[in-house]
Amino acid sequence: MDQSFDKPYSSWTSRPLDKKPTGLGIAHSKIILMGEHAVVYDHPAIAIPFKTCQVQVKVQPSAFSYTTIDCPYYKGRFEQAPDHLNNLKMALQLTLDSKQLPKPPLHIEILSEIPQERGMGSSAAVSVALIRAVCDFYGKTINDYHLRMITNEAEVIAHQSTSGIDTLVTSSNRSIIYRKSQQARDFDLDLKAYLVVADSGQIGQTKLAVNHVAQLRQSKANFVNGAMETIGSFVRQAFLAIRKKDPFELGRLMTYNHYYLNQLGVSNASLDHIVNAAWLAGALGAKLTGGGMGGCVIALAKDQAHAQMIAESMEEAGAEKTWLLNLSKEEQAKESHHD
Ligand code: MEV
Repeated sequence: MDQSFDKPYSSWTSRPLDKKPTGLGIAHSKIILMGEHAVVYDHPAIAIPFKTCQVQVKVQPSAFSYTTIDCPYYKGRFEQAPDHLNNLKMALQLTLDSKQLPKPPLHIEILSEIPQERGMGSSAAVSVALIRAVCDFYGKTINDYHLRMITNEAEVIAHQSTSGIDTLVTSSNRSIIYRKSQQARDFDLDLKAYLVVADSGQIGQTKLAVNHVAQLRQSKANFVNGAMETIGSFVRQAFLAIRKKDPFELGRLMTYNHYYLNQLGVSNASLDHIVNAAWLAGALGAKLTGGGMGGCVIALAKDQAHAQMIAESMEEAGAEKTWLLNLSKEEQAKESHHD
């Protein structure tokens, strides 16, 4: 169980001693608290930055006459990289073109703590970090609007249909309530509660899950539209519960949200099993987070001891890894003071 929050980023962040020109870019993962899938259809969702898991990209001149990449799943010539890295090719291309940067061959190194395809926004975070690193390498600044525009183009390649919520949260330090057609609103998430994040260890399938919901919506429009409306109303109530600092109400709404995600067919037996284990251990609420069909489950606990017990139950039910996130600003401040 990993209890760190905002842990200092490791030595990756320091520039190498060899003084090679180096660009660095960092981004973090995200957790959707409520409203995934419905957010694709312009209903609201709430998401928070999850800084415990981060990605860093380093850009340097290439030792070869072509651009190379070194990442956990591929090492070699970038243009020959497997299709699942096409989003990064797009992010690099758009950054160089839109900033009118020269195109000497680069070496790109990706170091990531974010489990891939677990609904934690890994693809968006890597694009954000890459764009930041390329801009840093050339000594250029990039504003958030431009950064997010390029990341969204890359996300369309990674996931096809995307609401843009992953892009926004992986590039921002604030919790947000987001609706596609409206300006996102950031807010302070400050609750006397803990969030347990549990990785099922199963590859999540956001693209498949989003396509599944789209197809279901074609065959059962009333059912799916009704479910989306209901999820949207849970999200609005959850936002009020957060403002009233009521974790019990938030937990109840999270559980209802999971029930509807299950009805939409984006949960599976393993995720349901982990959610059930959290409920049985007394969680205030539990649900899958992100695209589903694998990936992560979140649970709300009233304090640290409760969170530890819930995390253990989730691990016994099959979760590969769990993290605890203290949602109280005051306690977070005390923790960082003690570090
Ligand atoms: C993925 O993290 C969240 C989904 O709602 C897709 C999206 O909003 O782009 C499933």
